[in-house]
Amino acid sequence: MDRLKGNVAFITGGARGQGRAMALKFASEGADVVICDICSDAETVPYPLSTSADLAETRSRVEALGRRCVAEVADVRSQEQLDRVVERGIDELGHIDIVCASAGVHSFLPFWEMPEEMWQEVIDTNLTGVWHTVKAVAPHMIERGEGAAILTSSVMGKETGPDLAHYAAAKHGVIGLMRSFAFELGPHNIRVNAILPSVVHDKMGDNPATREWVFGRSDATTEDYVAATRNWHVLRGRAALPAAAIADAALFFASAESQHITGTELVVDAGHSILPGFNHTPIHDERIAVGPYPNDGVTVG
Ligand SMILES: NC(=O)c1ccc[n+]([C@@H]2O[C@H](COP(=O)([O-])OP(=O)(O)OC[C@H]3O[C@@H](n4cnc5c(N)ncnc54)[C@H](O)[C@@H]3O)[C@@H](O)[C@H]2O)c1
Repeated sequence: MDRLKGNVAFITGGARGQGRAMALKFASEGADVVICDICSDAETVPYPLSTSADLAETRSRVEALGRRCVAEVADVRSQEQLDRVVERGIDELGHIDIVCASAGVHSFLPFWEMPEEMWQEVIDTNLTGVWHTVKAVAPHMIERGEGAAILTSSVMGKETGPDLAHYAAAKHGVIGLMRSFAFELGPHNIRVNAILPSVVHDKMGDNPATREWVFGRSDATTEDYVAATRNWHVLRGRAALPAAAIADAALFFASAESQHITGTELVVDAGHSILPGFNHTPIHDERIAVGPYPNDGVTVG
């Protein structure tokens, strides 16, 4: 398949998970790729991030598909580091046509208990990092008069969840960035769209710390996690989605099939967003007076 023949894609968070799935999908469609990843842990993130071995594995799997790959360690919180990766990518591969901002982290605490550093690490990585990523390639794409940017938000870009105020704020913010970038880059023939995944089965969700947070016990297993994630979805048999499902959506936004589409959100959530809003565990409180209201709540006289 050659849907991206002759293209070069720059992907952050490319060492594993969705970023790796995008690199492999794009390579299998004829693109060369530039990937970067932090390849070390983050201070307030309670699960391990990627390693250099993960980054090297993505590179060798791209090369096994017959495509070229530039792989660099870089932190999306640093504009300087991303600028260097982009410069090297253009030097070695000639140009960049597609940019995917996939790097991201999560952590969890009620917002009133959240230390400043935890808040900042998620905002800096998941929101500011997306700005840095697109900023690093925008001048090059403007000069060439074409390009596609794909920003990974989340269903948390539209809703929220327990202990995720910083994550939800960043992911809502990514949608704001996507619209602003699309507006400013449209006159330069550069398209910008966002993907909103629901639960994806990779190391961000399926790790001991996240499982303990979800289940409230430290012995929850991958099987428990997979079973529980079915409750997120409407489509039959869909537990946490494969990373390749998000890569398929990214391929659509990267390819000519979406050449007239910009400024949009694509929810990849097996129907999560249409689940009815229903409280299974409402809390009864004697102090809160609810009906029956005399006079239908209207004060007479
Ligand atoms: N996993 C899910 O359930 C889920 C759901 C919705 C959205 N997302 C989003 O999808 C994106 C990809 O996550 P994933 O599911 O592939 O998880 P993942 O943890 O497997 O991959 C994320 C990658 O980003 C890298 N990274 C983290 N901080 C970085 C930094 N400062 N600089 C450079 N790289 C950094 C990590 O090392 C890792 O390789 C993230 O933006 C995430 O918020 C994930």
